[in-house]
Amino acid sequence: MNGTKNINGVRDPRPILVTGGAGFIGSNFVLEWFAAGKGPVVNLDKLTYAGNPENLATVAKNSDYTFVHGDICDGELVKQLLERYKPRAIVHFAAESHVDRSILGPEAFLRTNIDGTFTLLHAAKAHLDALEEEDRARFRFLHVSTDEVYGTLEPEDPAFHEETPYAPNSPYAASKAASDHLVRAWVHTYKLPALITNCSNNYGPYQFPEKLIPLMIANARQGKTLPVYGDGQQVRDWLYVTDHCKALMAVLEQGRIGETYNVGGGNQRSNLEVVTTLCALLDELLPDSRFRPHQQLIKYVADRPGHDRRYAIDARKLEGELGWRAQESFETGLRKTVEWYLANTDWVENVTSGAYQHWVQQNYGSRETTGAAAGGTK
Ligand code: NAD
Ligand code: TYD
Repeated sequence: MNGTKNINGVRDPRPILVTGGAGFIGSNFVLEWFAAGKGPVVNLDKLTYAGNPENLATVAKNSDYTFVHGDICDGELVKQLLERYKPRAIVHFAAESHVDRSILGPEAFLRTNIDGTFTLLHAAKAHLDALEEEDRARFRFLHVSTDEVYGTLEPEDPAFHEETPYAPNSPYAASKAASDHLVRAWVHTYKLPALITNCSNNYGPYQFPEKLIPLMIANARQGKTLPVYGDGQQVRDWLYVTDHCKALMAVLEQGRIGETYNVGGGNQRSNLEVVTTLCALLDELLPDSRFRPHQQLIKYVADRPGHDRRYAIDARKLEGELGWRAQESFETGLRKTVEWYLANTDWVENVTSGAYQHWVQQNYGSRETTGAAAGGTK
């Protein structure tokens, strides 16, 4: 591919190594990276239920794209990849990422999120030591993390900032917090040039339909119930995925080594507000649906154990230092997302395989409905 330029306007032939690039945010990031002409990518992904090479079908034949099917916990494989491709950066997305799954089966979360991050850090340090001085000075390790490491907020609490103490509440959040601490230790002890981002809830194309927004769209389209946990008043701070990807590029290219940057869109919404907004959009976009008004499909179900009440991100450091701004409002981003899911029903059907149906049975089968809520009121 001609014309790929690095930040200084010079084509950089060395790839970045992306982990978990076949997942939701990783695949959006790879697509954005190529669209911006930033150079070659090696994508290491285990292809768990959440990883789908189809997300990257449009770049699969690009000679600048290499896919490696493998596990970040495989130290020998990671070492070989670093020796072979000599990446100028590692952008680490690979993780087990769904809180509900972490409650039912935490082992995989500890393995991938903690052991896997350790394996990458360990190999990255050896890789760094073997680089020439100029390459060593430019190498970066970007660790993609979550706001869930900070725990939960009361309604009047200020948003999470970079100095908010860690207080993870779910097995997922605890495993991500542990991985953040490992990255911090590798910076401090071994001078690994790493950076951490802690981002709020993402939404957008290619999100696996077990997370709130794509699940609700998929269910509503088929006239299935829309399961709202507890009272539906839990608040999340939503960010359109492409805005997250742009923030990651800014941090990778201009962020200060060893720093943490919080990423968020300033879009706090209760889950019930999100679901009712989705229902209204679907009413408009599917005028012939026999399930209109879609709000009648809402059902309150038993709450998630240990459910965090509120997340909110203060992204002023990222905005002030690196000039990043979210481009999408919640309204524009949500409309784009619904339109994408309605236009890509094949994608949804392909990823919701037999194994996924088993998960649905496990997660929702035992959850008692706590009350039907036609119209979204309890
Ligand atoms: P995802 O679950 O959609 O994708 C994870 C990807 O990692 C998949 O492609 C999967 O196959 C791969 N993977 C899992 N285990 C692996 C292993 N052992 N080796 C190699 N590959 C493996 O997750 P996502 O939503 O795209 O999240 C990506 C990252 O961003 C995660 O680290 C997550 O903690 C973080 N994050 C997510 C959100 C969000 O709202 N989704 C918000 C903030 C931060
Ligand atoms: P989720 O998409 O799993 O993200 P996270 O737990 O990382 O925030 O859930 C977002 C919110 O939506 C969370 O408060 C749990 C809630 N939720 C429901 O009410 N019903 C559902 O079926 C799902 C999957 C989530």
